[in-house]
This record gives sequence, C-alpha cells and structure tokens, in this order.
Amino acid sequence: MDSAPQRAGGDTAPGHGVTPSGSHATESGRRPGDRPARPFLKWAGGKRQLLPELRRFYPPRFETYHEPFVGSGAVFFDLVGRRAVRRRRVRLTDVNPDLVGCWRQLRDNREAVIDHLQELAAERVDAPEEHYYGVRERFNGARGGILDDGRAQAERYTATLAAMLIYLNRTGFNGLFRVNSSGLFNVPRGRYRNPRICDEHNLRRASEALSTLAAKVDYAKYDAVLDVAQPGDFVYLDPPYAPLSSTASFTSYTADRFDAGDQQHLQRVVIELAERHCHVVLSNSTAPEIRDLYDGNAEAEGAGVRAHRVAARRAINSKAARRGPIEEYVITNVAPERA
Ligand SMILES: C[S@@+](CC[C@H](N)C(=O)[O-])C[C@H]1O[C@@H](n2cnc3c(N)ncnc32)[C@H](O)[C@@H]1O
Repeated sequence: MDSAPQRAGGDTAPGHGVTPSGSHATESGRRPGDRPARPFLKWAGGKRQLLPELRRFYPPRFETYHEPFVGSGAVFFDLVGRRAVRRRRVRLTDVNPDLVGCWRQLRDNREAVIDHLQELAAERVDAPEEHYYGVRERFNGARGGILDDGRAQAERYTATLAAMLIYLNRTGFNGLFRVNSSGLFNVPRGRYRNPRICDEHNLRRASEALSTLAAKVDYAKYDAVLDVAQPGDFVYLDPPYAPLSSTASFTSYTADRFDAGDQQHLQRVVIELAERHCHVVLSNSTAPEIRDLYDGNAEAEGAGVRAHRVAARRAINSKAARRGPIEEYVITNVAPERA
C-alpha cells in the first residue's frame, strides 16, 4: 500500500498517465499492488541505506526537483515512490556520460533496452566469465566511436550500450564504474553465483516514472543547477564524499577527481541556493574539511544552513567488516521533521 507522504509532497491523490506502451501507470511508476521503482543500477555512494535519515529533511512542499549528482538516483526514486514529485518538473544531471546515456535510453527506449539485456542474460549462462569480458570488450568498442565530449556521448548513447552498461553493472566487481586513462571501462568480473541481470519489472517501473514525469536527464556539472534553480525548488546534492583518511578516497566515478577545491566551490553553490530560498540538502562525510565548511561556519549558518550528524552505513568499502555504522553529515536549510 502507498502511504501518504508525511514529509515531501503533500498531495496524496494518485497521478495517472498513459505510458508510451499504452498502459496506465502512475507517476510513481506503480500500478496498484506494485512494488515502487528502485534504482536500476548499483552505484558507489548510492544512498538507499541513508534514506531513513534523509527523509526527515525532505521539504514538505517544493516546486522543481533537482538532483545534480544523480548516480543511481536513490533519493529521486524514493521521492517517486512517495508521490512527492507528482506534477513537479524533475531535472537529473551527472558528469558520467555513460550513466546519463543509460538513464535517457531507459526513459525513451525501454523495450529495446530490456530486449538487449535479456539477450545478454541468456547468452551468459554457459560461460559467465568469458561472456563478461566479451561484453566489456564490445562495450568499449562501441563506446570508442562516441567517446567525445561528455554531452555528445550521452546524447549518442544507444539502447545496446545501455543494456551492456546494466549487464556490466550487475555482474562486474561490486557494481563499480571505473575507466582507465584512455576512458576505457576496466572493472573486472564480480563473483556472483546468480546475479539478477534483468529485473524487467523494475526497469519498466523506473522507465515509466521517468517518461510520465518527462524527467530531464542531462550531462552537466553540478554548478549548472545555479542557472535554473528558482526559489521554492528542492535541490538534493550528493557529491563524491571528502575522504575521511588519505587511503579511504573513492572518487573515480569518472576520470575526473572531486578534490578539496571542488568541495569549497560546492559550499559556495549550497550557500547561493539557500540565499535564493531553494530547499537545499547536501550529504557528505564528516571529514574535517567538510566540518570546517559547514559545521559552525558563519557564512553557511548566515544563509540558514545547518550541519546535522546522522548515523549511516557505508556500502562501498571492499572489506565487509569495515561497512559498519558511521556518522555522516546532512547539511541543509530544511528544518528536520521531529523523530
Ligand atoms: C555519491 S555519487 C551519487 C550517488 C547517488 N546519490 C545515488 O544514490 O546513487 C556522486 C555522483 O556525482 C557524479 N559527479 C562527480 N563529479 C561531478 C561534478 N563535478 N558534477 C556533477 N556530477 C559529478 C559522479 O559521476 C557520481 O555519479
């Protein structure tokens, strides 16, 4: 059963739309009795585990929803499931062109993506290891022709590439996306006994949610949000986290790094959004550099931005034993819902 949104949305009537396939789906991507759409990719730093904490900071009402570091979109899909983005404009952006190309293909070309993915899953059965490396080679070969500037690459993505990306994501090591200095995807095979490669139901729900909302998904740097965000909009920012220690860094989502200078620039963006009266929510680590930028920082506090420490579980550490509870920051000008 759907529960009425407690926090974001405030509009509980189901929204209906006719999907390109002619079937009736809601903007939450669900039919009665359906499971809500979930992220269709595993993504380093994905926020599914932090959702219970983040929900307390969803603004009760907002206009357009912006997610400038979208990754697998855990918060976007959570808002969809809560019907909080019903009849809202949605703008999702990232600088990973493969990721953006894949989201766009799933939105616009769902049946072709699912067909190709089913073919890959069926082909894999006899020799999973050879198949993985064969698909990786085909993927890099096909991408080679479009590796251009990121925007062009995202726009020239195909359903076949999107299916190969989902396949590699479901069967590669830890669902990582990593490219070498030549831009070639180089993640080794993961050791999954029986990976779920084509979750057709979820892919359809995710696609229907995107197409029914006419969600914009674009290749863009996060600060491009300043060109479009208006007072009353909700902006959720989930950058690559500042490392807690020099060995804990994981920032290779693309060939580019996100360093201390980027964190400082991001702070300017957060402050400007707050001064513009957007509802802004940022997640980050509790590294000292982030504490200095927000926790007790006069400029951030002057703009109404507060740093809240919340308990989270890290999913990205390759050592299972180190995936225990950890504190993270939720940095926001939204007053938290009382527990
Ligand atoms: C922590 S992940 C986001 C995870 C996401 N919240 C989820 O649930 O999957 C950070 C994302 O930021 C993207 N990114 C890195 N640098 C960026 C930049 N300068 N502008 C926009 N996106 C960037 C990466 O490609 C990556 O997808």
